[in-house]
Amino acid sequence: MPFNRAKPYNDLPPLPPKMELETKAILKATVGAHRSLAELKGVSELIPNPELMVNSIPLQEAKASSEIENIVTTQDNLFKAELNEKGADPQTKEVLRYRHALWTGFEAIKSKPLSLNIFTEICSTIKDMDMKVRRIPGTAIKNLGTGEVLYTPPEGEKVILGHLSSLERFIHEEENLDPLVKMALVHYQFEAIHPFSDGNGRTGRIINILYLVEKGLLDLPVLYLSRYIVRNKSKYYSLLSGVTQRGEWEEWVLYMLDAVKDTSHWTTQKIREIKDAFDKAGVLCQGKLPKSVYSIELVESIFKQPYCRIDILVKSGIAKRETASKYLQMLAKLGLLKPKKIGREKLYLNQGLIKILSN
Ligand SMILES: Nc1ncnc2c1ncn2[C@@H]1O[C@H](COP(=O)(O)OP(=O)(O)OP(=O)(O)O)[C@@H](O)[C@H]1O
Ligand SMILES: [Mg+2]
Repeated sequence: MPFNRAKPYNDLPPLPPKMELETKAILKATVGAHRSLAELKGVSELIPNPELMVNSIPLQEAKASSEIENIVTTQDNLFKAELNEKGADPQTKEVLRYRHALWTGFEAIKSKPLSLNIFTEICSTIKDMDMKVRRIPGTAIKNLGTGEVLYTPPEGEKVILGHLSSLERFIHEEENLDPLVKMALVHYQFEAIHPFSDGNGRTGRIINILYLVEKGLLDLPVLYLSRYIVRNKSKYYSLLSGVTQRGEWEEWVLYMLDAVKDTSHWTTQKIREIKDAFDKAGVLCQGKLPKSVYSIELVESIFKQPYCRIDILVKSGIAKRETASKYLQMLAKLGLLKPKKIGREKLYLNQGLIKILSN
């Protein structure tokens, strides 16, 4: 019987697929992806203060991943919202929630394995409401332009929970599959189960990163994987359908391996550039600022986020209000920051950092 896209796919087969996954092409791509990822892990270890990068890169990940869902905000809105989350527009808030969900998941896997429990926590954080496995029928993936149904996921809470528990089992099963290949399989399966009424794409993309952390392939959730997916979105959709309708696993796995390779490489470059800018700023400050003013914490505080303000220095215990204001002005004089008035507030932009992040 041909596959019916409009009928709930309750018979979704459990993982692993019954076919050879270690094809020549996959093995070759796996080597390249691992090499890039190892390089990323290596540079992330060089970061003296992880908070430095770890704030900015996941912000990019959050932005791209949310764009896949057509939640578009500007870089500038995001940077501002970091300083004043309450005043942000709904789109921007949603992007910040994605980053928050990424962190929530990262913290959670330190004490428990990746499981439905964590999936639910992530999805609830993204959606800012209590998400539960779907109970009512009617969820389908549609082409946003034409309304045509592309895929109908399994239906019925029991059926969905059954698929999820075999997915959990597969995630933690010992077998000979390469972890990157496994990540690709898990991502397909999670999307095909589509446990929630919304937010499955974003939750699934966070799971990818957490899975790599759980496997020890990454120490921090800094991989900017959604960049690739947002740029190759129609391919992403058609490959997912290809697996369901024609069992085209090889193409799907190759796509995900290329995503890991490409974005690991990109992220590594970015981290190097940020680290470089940070080191240069450190040398400049040490040479030009009075001894009583210079501290590495001061330099770090302007690299933690692209926009700085007096509050940030006060909160991190670097200086009291008045002194902090003077410090920021000194950094501006050195050309490291650019003052900008937004409403009643004066912000200091780290333009070097903004340029790196915006490219
Ligand atoms: N044919 C398909 N089979 C299985 N999953 C699919 C298929 N087409 C798309 N998907 C997945 O469904 C996701 C969209 O589902 P949903 O709207 O629940 O998630 P979202 O996070 O709100 O959206 P988005 O992923 O667009 O940001 C896609 O991102 C993709 O991962
Ligand atoms: Mg959606």
